Amino acid sequence: MAAPLCVTILAAGKGTRMRNPLPKVLHPLAGCTLIEHVLATAQALRPSMTTVVLAAGMDEVAAVVQGSPLAPGIVIQEPQLGTGHAVQVASGTLPDHGTVLVLFGDTPLLQAATLARLIAAREAADAAVAVLGMRPENPAGYGRLRLVGDRLVAVIEDRDADAALRQEAPCNSGVMAFDAARLPALLARLALHGDKGEYYLTDTVALAVERGWACVAVEGPVAEGLGVNSQAQLAEAGRLLQQQLRGRLLDAGVIVHDPETLHLCVDTEVAAGAVIEPYVVLGRGVRIGAGAVIHSFCHLEGATVAAGARIGPFARLRPGTDIGEGARIGNFVETKNTRLEPKAKANHLSYLGDASVGAAANVGAGTITCNYDGFNKHRTDIGAGAFIGSNTALVAPVRVGEGAIVAAGSTITADVPADGFAIARARQLTHAQRAALLRQRLRQKKRAD
Ligand code: UD1
Ligand code: MG
Repeated sequence: MAAPLCVTILAAGKGTRMRNPLPKVLHPLAGCTLIEHVLATAQALRPSMTTVVLAAGMDEVAAVVQGSPLAPGIVIQEPQLGTGHAVQVASGTLPDHGTVLVLFGDTPLLQAATLARLIAAREAADAAVAVLGMRPENPAGYGRLRLVGDRLVAVIEDRDADAALRQEAPCNSGVMAFDAARLPALLARLALHGDKGEYYLTDTVALAVERGWACVAVEGPVAEGLGVNSQAQLAEAGRLLQQQLRGRLLDAGVIVHDPETLHLCVDTEVAAGAVIEPYVVLGRGVRIGAGAVIHSFCHLEGATVAAGARIGPFARLRPGTDIGEGARIGNFVETKNTRLEPKAKANHLSYLGDASVGAAANVGAGTITCNYDGFNKHRTDIGAGAFIGSNTALVAPVRVGEGAIVAAGSTITADVPADGFAIARARQLTHAQRAALLRQRLRQKKRAD
């Protein structure tokens, strides 16, 4: 049986440098929080156990963590005395053999393959500690790896490093793999850095070397090791992740006119041959079928668009939207919790909420479903082939039968049967010459005043 792998994720830090009361690891990145990215990566490694270190009162983070299929254990670190202290606090949960992999909740771009490489390197060298290094363009703030030949002998924090180390040495990504059997001895000897009031996990390397235990460094891709400590770094992580996600779509045969202006989520699914025009934002839970076209300036979230459908420009598809094959959503149309059957159309200026629109039905410009009475939501069902004239208000709950016609400008409050015709607007009165008379009277009045 393979040696057990235990993943420990540190996320108790205050994240002061984010300058935002939202806990750092709940900041969003391409549709999920930083901690969810890290949990998803951990999951790909199939660990035998996972522990997350949080601070007291981080209930929102705990709720997100508990939602992970890994069912991680949560350990509370109070007060937060550094990364070394965080692992000390978690040490009661750690196994006595195998590998303990420490990840940071603020390092969201890591890939499982890179971590697997680090774990394999530690095992191969029978090292006490293996550290994932990287060479970022701007190394400020990262610890540096002191190497003697191939041997890793220490990790020195940026503030304590000399100029030579700062310039030449690879940086510490923060990811460390430990031999579980030797980790307790190292944790027991960590010393407090008085100036910062912290115990550094990185000091375990020098302590291991003192004991004659081997340590190794593995270099990984810079993008993966990016640590998010500020809003600028979060934005940079977002930029890098978007680049990767767009690259995946292009590789899969999606036609993207201006990739830089397309925003995606980690779970976005687009079939080969779909077309996405410039300036499109796809939120969580979007699936787009082959040959579908998303015109410019559309915002989709929780929406499915079937093959050959066309959306926008300027459309907003909200959660629960399901657009059938060849259907059409035009400009300034908003949908929520609505299904359009194949070839149905809502081409201009509409709101369709809690509705179903039958095959090839036509929803005229300015039509809205009045789905909410201030307390409850109600459904509108429009049958196949029905025609809803422009500027109709459909007051839900209401049904318009197959093939029915609703006259423009109607306020529909009662069901319309199949093939029925409904008109619900005031009758028009027309008076010949009345406009000319009215103008004459107004002119005279103005002169008299
Ligand atoms: C840390 C590393 C640095 C590395 C960098 C990579 C140390 C001492 N420094 O610095 O070498 O280059 O990450 O991004 O390890 N945390 C706790 N409890 C604490 C303190 C921190 O759980 O008491 C958690 C934080 O929530 C965070 C992670 O540990 O997820 C790292 O802490 P952070 O303060 O961001 O460390 P860095 O200064 O980035
Ligand atoms: Mg950090």
